[in-house]
Amino acid sequence: MSKTVTGISTTIAAGPLPKVAWGKGGHVTDSTDKTYVDGSGGPAVYSLGYGNEEVTEAIKAQLDRIMHGYRYTFTSDPLEELTEYILAGCGPEFGAVVLVSGGSEAMESCLKIALQYHSARGEISRRRFISRQRSWHGNTLGVLALSGFAERRAPFEGALMPASLLSPVNAYRPPEGVSPDELARHCAHELEEEILRLGPDTVAAFVFEPVVGAAGGVVPAPTGYAAMVREICTRHGVLMIADEVMCGSGRCGTYRALTHDDVVPDIMSIAKGMSGGYIPLGAAVYSIPVRDAITATYGGVMTGHTFTGHTVACAAGAAVHRIFRRDGLIEHVGANGSHLRALLAEALAGIDEVGDLRGRGYFIGIELVADPVTKTPFPRDRELFLRVRECALANGLICYPSGGNVDGVLGDTIILAPRYNAPDAELVEIAGKLGVSVRQALAQIGRD
Ligand SMILES: Cc1ncc(COP(=O)(O)O)c(C=O)c1O
Repeated sequence: MSKTVTGISTTIAAGPLPKVAWGKGGHVTDSTDKTYVDGSGGPAVYSLGYGNEEVTEAIKAQLDRIMHGYRYTFTSDPLEELTEYILAGCGPEFGAVVLVSGGSEAMESCLKIALQYHSARGEISRRRFISRQRSWHGNTLGVLALSGFAERRAPFEGALMPASLLSPVNAYRPPEGVSPDELARHCAHELEEEILRLGPDTVAAFVFEPVVGAAGGVVPAPTGYAAMVREICTRHGVLMIADEVMCGSGRCGTYRALTHDDVVPDIMSIAKGMSGGYIPLGAAVYSIPVRDAITATYGGVMTGHTFTGHTVACAAGAAVHRIFRRDGLIEHVGANGSHLRALLAEALAGIDEVGDLRGRGYFIGIELVADPVTKTPFPRDRELFLRVRECALANGLICYPSGGNVDGVLGDTIILAPRYNAPDAELVEIAGKLGVSVRQALAQIGRD
């Protein structure tokens, strides 16, 4: 019988969802008293785990003072403190922040800032966006049009704005005939060709995830790719927008994921881990030249919402950033990422179907394939990624399996994104339960 799990139709016996009751540290308990270790921080969000008393106290204290100062009437201490943390984390090239309520709003703001920048400079013809297949930029109509997650786009096709979606950039699955060594140059060249085909004066921005999240199963760009893209964008007056909703805010071991590539975008988004899931929050961050051009013509950016810079949300975000900084958590994630990968590699050792284990910091993707030599994915009707999810839940593990990374439909990946402050025993527990769950899911489809 067909059922639905997180919006994806499925034929496996997916029971009703457990009801969440409470959480502490890296563990969450449901209403039947079953406890799960959270290996993915939910959807790569809970950067400090559950029930962090410093964050909840900061929220309560702010609520006791005032919940919300409306942005057209007031600024506030939490808003200013959070803005300072974000700008310090992003680096001196960045000049302004728009605070919103999540990743899609952050990405919509990034697009609007890019368009407003070109309008401010009189380049009104620059309206077109270029992005990539196997990427995810959000659920609102604007950024859905730039997202290459076929299954999530399908019901809305025909109503999405025109955009150019280039090849995915994945060293494990390079385009046919392209060697891994040539991948960065090949894909950067594809971007330049598309800019030239459209006419550079029509292109507003190139939008990409520095480390692709759900749509690709954690795919870091190959060495050199981001720098080549940066150079091409600059040469053609095209803005570079980095979508760091999932991979940013320290998840990859640096505040900006692109720091790893030594590249600075013009505009970027963050969300998810920036408030640890305590209150919905996101941000669009943009460079000093972008800010100055917009300010000179318009006085300020024309994006934002009723709850932009919401005071309690900012208090949560500021508390999370304070803890990141005080406890050196982002540096810890950077230093300990290889240890997490080693634990996972050990737990999955001997499973031939593990085709690739990849990622940065505490953002790891595992790709399961039917044949590790040819990299052939499993047929969709095996629903392997969903089976892993079900087995993991039964074993008391939360992970983030995702399908469709190969061609939009085929492909089984599992994402792990533990909290930055997880003790080693928790990482060991996650790895151990994942190994058991993957073996059980494979056994269900006759692969033991
Ligand atoms: C890279 C990326 N961009 C944007 C979004 C949209 O964020 P939200 O779901 O908070 O609207 C997501 C969500 O998963 C994401 O992973």
